[in-house]
Amino acid sequence: MCGICCVVTLCSQHATHDFFNEDILCHLRRRGPDSSQQLIKTVPDLSYECLFSGHVLHLRGLVTPQPLEDANSNIFLWNGEIFNGVHVGDLENDTEVMFHHLALCSSEEEMLSLFSSVRGPWSFIYYQASRHVLWFGRDYFGRRSLLWQFSNEVNSAFCLTSVSVYSESGHQWQEVPASGIFKIDLKACTATKSWSLTLFPWKYSCTEKAVEEIFIHVLDQVSKDLPNHIRVVMNESKLCLRAPVIPLNKTISEASGQCPGTNISNITHTVSVETLQDFLAEEHKKKLVCQFIDILNEAVKRRVLSLFRAEDQETREVPSMSNRKAHIAVLFSGGVDSMVLAALADKHVPLEEPIDLLNVAFMLKEQAKQKGTSKNRTSREVQLDPLCSQASCQDLDAKTRARFSCFDVPDRITGRAGLKELEAINPSRTWNFVEINVTPQELKKIRQQRITHLIYPLDTVLDDSIGCAIWFASRGEGFISNQGELKPYRSPAKVVLTGIGADEQLAGYSRHRVCFKKYGFEGLNKELEMELDRISSRNLGRDDRIIGDHGKEARFPFLDEDVVSFLNSLPILEKADLTLPRGIGEKLLLRLAAKEFGLTASAILPKRAVQFGSRIAKLESNSEKASDTCSRLKSFSVDEL
Ligand SMILES: *[C@@H]1O[C@H](CO)[C@@H](O)[C@H](O)[C@H]1NC(C)=O
Ligand SMILES: *[C@@H]1O[C@H](CO)[C@@H](O)[C@H](O)[C@H]1NC(C)=O
Ligand SMILES: *[C@@H]1O[C@H](CO)[C@@H](O)[C@H](O)[C@H]1NC(C)=O
Ligand SMILES: *[C@@H]1O[C@H](CO)[C@@H](O)[C@H](O)[C@H]1NC(C)=O
Ligand SMILES: *[C@@H]1O[C@H](CO)[C@@H](O)[C@H](O)[C@H]1NC(C)=O
Ligand SMILES: *[C@@H]1O[C@H](CO)[C@@H](O)[C@H](O)[C@H]1NC(C)=O
Repeated sequence: MCGICCVVTLCSQHATHDFFNEDILCHLRRRGPDSSQQLIKTVPDLSYECLFSGHVLHLRGLVTPQPLEDANSNIFLWNGEIFNGVHVGDLENDTEVMFHHLALCSSEEEMLSLFSSVRGPWSFIYYQASRHVLWFGRDYFGRRSLLWQFSNEVNSAFCLTSVSVYSESGHQWQEVPASGIFKIDLKACTATKSWSLTLFPWKYSCTEKAVEEIFIHVLDQVSKDLPNHIRVVMNESKLCLRAPVIPLNKTISEASGQCPGTNISNITHTVSVETLQDFLAEEHKKKLVCQFIDILNEAVKRRVLSLFRAEDQETREVPSMSNRKAHIAVLFSGGVDSMVLAALADKHVPLEEPIDLLNVAFMLKEQAKQKGTSKNRTSREVQLDPLCSQASCQDLDAKTRARFSCFDVPDRITGRAGLKELEAINPSRTWNFVEINVTPQELKKIRQQRITHLIYPLDTVLDDSIGCAIWFASRGEGFISNQGELKPYRSPAKVVLTGIGADEQLAGYSRHRVCFKKYGFEGLNKELEMELDRISSRNLGRDDRIIGDHGKEARFPFLDEDVVSFLNSLPILEKADLTLPRGIGEKLLLRLAAKEFGLTASAILPKRAVQFGSRIAKLESNSEKASDTCSRLKSFSVDEL
């Protein structure tokens, strides 16, 4: 994952570096530690100036420093990953390939068709010199972050960046909506001394009727968050991008009606692995599950193999098992999503290479806090708690502390159980179960130093909890067990697989049950469609900024275009059956897949969100609502450390 940034100023009295500060640069460098370059393009005739800043994380091919400039003065910044759709040879770098294709495009249609064909996450900035035009945008799901800012004074600056800096007084940044690709005609803007954007939106099919209506809706959505002096228009010939996935199938079929003569209604409704087995006994279901496994398996394969593994090969001698370093890590709670990803990754990662399972836990500030919570704890938790008084845990050094139960949060316990299952599936693999233990002190310090800026411009309590949990998890710093001894470990893996997208598509959240109860299948369909639509602005930009901060790349197999199209093609009842109990009904299809390739107890774990599983949510005030603005992300000055 790379850090990209561009600052455009229209009047020469403003220098671009006025808008580009050292803090932003520092955040960009953390995303792309392997190469950093700046390029300033001054066009005195038209009195505009552009600064391009590119920071590269090296993952494939040879290191390709950015920004790239060609003989015709076109300039390109790419924060993306081509997994399919446009050919990238094993030794090629996708940045060069993409730039080359772009430079060959002779019309806007060709450019849009190029971006429509890419499969994989991306955000980009492209300066087309001959036309004085700047292009930029994010992929259909918004898997890569891009922020923008228009300074308040008319005819001054416009900035784009992967990551920014939170400041109470500064200009307001916003996420670039993942609604399509934007174009700025710099020649026209300097002439009119005002900013005007042309949007080329994503559409399922460009020939569709009712395009007009949809266009107007998208334009409204994009314009409403922008300052009044910024104009957003469509191209008059209604050019658009082709969505890389098919629309959601909203057919509501009857539970057992889909396949006459089946015994589905006969299956006992208990939460057990046998229940899953009963479903799999049905031919139609089994076929579907196998199809799903094949498609998800391909998605995982692309994501674990598209990266540079040459270090080991260069040394020519086969490193001993224990010297091999991990290239792939999984954000790992032991729940069904992360278990399935780990089990599929295992099929493709070279056997000598360890796989890192990143498991995060937050220590409770005070045990007293727990008494106030209404949630029932399992008997196991209750037994362990007395070992972990605040004083005893903090006085110990980190290593000793790790052995205590202060960090035996729900995700730690399911994580350990998950590890056992994975070891049973493949005993020859080195599975590094990385226990990542976060104290309240460290959380507070790092939140203020880094995480606040990465979450920004998002700002809710939920963004704070998830953002902090993912930051510590993806840093990968903790302990692994070595012949019974815990030893400090830092995951060297540059690729981090996450299960995001599974709950949104397979009705995994408890709100889906509420929705289903109230509004039935129709309501649930609408909810799922809406959630996938907004996943860029709710989750993905934030998660990309958070994980990218460690010089690592987040990869999302459940948001692979083929996976989404497959799941979108299925009526809801094939994916989830919320008439069945928790642990079975939600994400039913995924549970069946898990069972099919040998997972057991993890296949029927109910969904538990990371903020609860890691217990970070319990650290904070009980009266907070997840959607409230998070005061911890704002008020540094009054924050006592
Ligand atoms: C990037 O890949 C291209 C081929 O796509 C190759 O010609 C070029 O040398 C590579 N760039 C670097 C810096 O290695
Ligand atoms: C709209 O697209 C057409 C077709 O590519 C192009 O000829 C025209 O210049 C575009 N209009 C604007 C305002 O860019
Ligand atoms: C349904 O279940 C009955 C009894 O368990 C069994 O005899 C029958 O073959 C099943 N039908 C199908 C279509 O699987
Ligand atoms: C399932 O169906 C079979 C045949 O119709 C019947 O004999 C059996 O009792 C049913 N089992 C349950 C648990 O309902
Ligand atoms: C806690 O458990 C008790 C007994 O198992 C049950 O009656 C009660 O409803 C539970 N409370 C909550 C908040 O789940
Ligand atoms: C939607 O699902 C129904 C029922 O399985 C199927 O007949 C139909 O072909 C599907 N539609 C699409 C567009 O996949």
